Amino acid sequence: MTEQNPNYGRIRSFTRRGSRLGDKYEAVMAEYGSRYVIDYPEGPAQTTIADDAHIDLIAEFGRPGPLVVEIGPGSGEQTIAAALARPEWNFLAIEAWAPGVARCVNAAVREGVRNVRLMEVDAAQALPILFREGEGANPRAVELWTFFPDPWRKTRHHKRRLVSDEFAATAALVLQAGGTWRMATDWADYAWQMRDVVQNSPQFRNPFSQKNHDPADQGQYQGGFADRWNGRVMTRFERRGIEAGRKIYDIEAIRVSG
Ligand SMILES: C[S@@+](CC[C@H](N)C(=O)[O-])C[C@H]1O[C@@H](n2cnc3c(N)ncnc32)[C@H](O)[C@@H]1O
Repeated sequence: MTEQNPNYGRIRSFTRRGSRLGDKYEAVMAEYGSRYVIDYPEGPAQTTIADDAHIDLIAEFGRPGPLVVEIGPGSGEQTIAAALARPEWNFLAIEAWAPGVARCVNAAVREGVRNVRLMEVDAAQALPILFREGEGANPRAVELWTFFPDPWRKTRHHKRRLVSDEFAATAALVLQAGGTWRMATDWADYAWQMRDVVQNSPQFRNPFSQKNHDPADQGQYQGGFADRWNGRVMTRFERRGIEAGRKIYDIEAIRVSG
């Protein structure tokens, strides 16, 4: 009997929005795509990677270096700003939405950054393969970022949220001991969920545990929200949340060893 990869009944935290790039981004991708976008053997479903794929991240960046993994960079505002600020670090941005990848490539070209690589793939499915343990394993990341992930606001859609107890195990696989998983959201009930996921995971420690209480908190725990991380730039999604009068939450989790 063939073993079924559980990821193929996977939860999709993203929707298939329009994937047409338009002339400008088609041209950018034709000229610069191969410099920034990592090719991979495809899995059986769209935006999945083959189970037995091996992507050598050091070779892809052309050098070793502290690695940051960002999930869902959108247009890449955060990725590119961070890559400019830390030219000696390597930034891997994983985005399931083709026009987002093209916008990130465009921004990388415009700003002249060379320490960013992109993958157009479902991060939840691909990360366990990219960071598989064993011979030739990729070095673990120093940071993992999930900033303003799709909120899936309706209760019946909450199961599609990326940050979940199940995903915490994937985040733990990506990060080195002492590494930091940073999250941000403008949706209070997703923030409470993120905080609960961190508190419930034996693989993470919340340095802000019980701090910064939210009086409206209906999660399992109370408090545990980080101060705004000063390495996070204001993106369109954060601005939109603020303009709508929503509070912005940061959540920080430290990968414990073991
Ligand atoms: C709401 S946007 C936020 C973009 C950006 N982080 C920001 O703060 O502006 C969320 C992004 O995550 C991407 N995304 C959602 N689930 C994903 C997944 N499983 N793998 C890769 N990208 C994903 C979406 O395509 C979208 O571009």
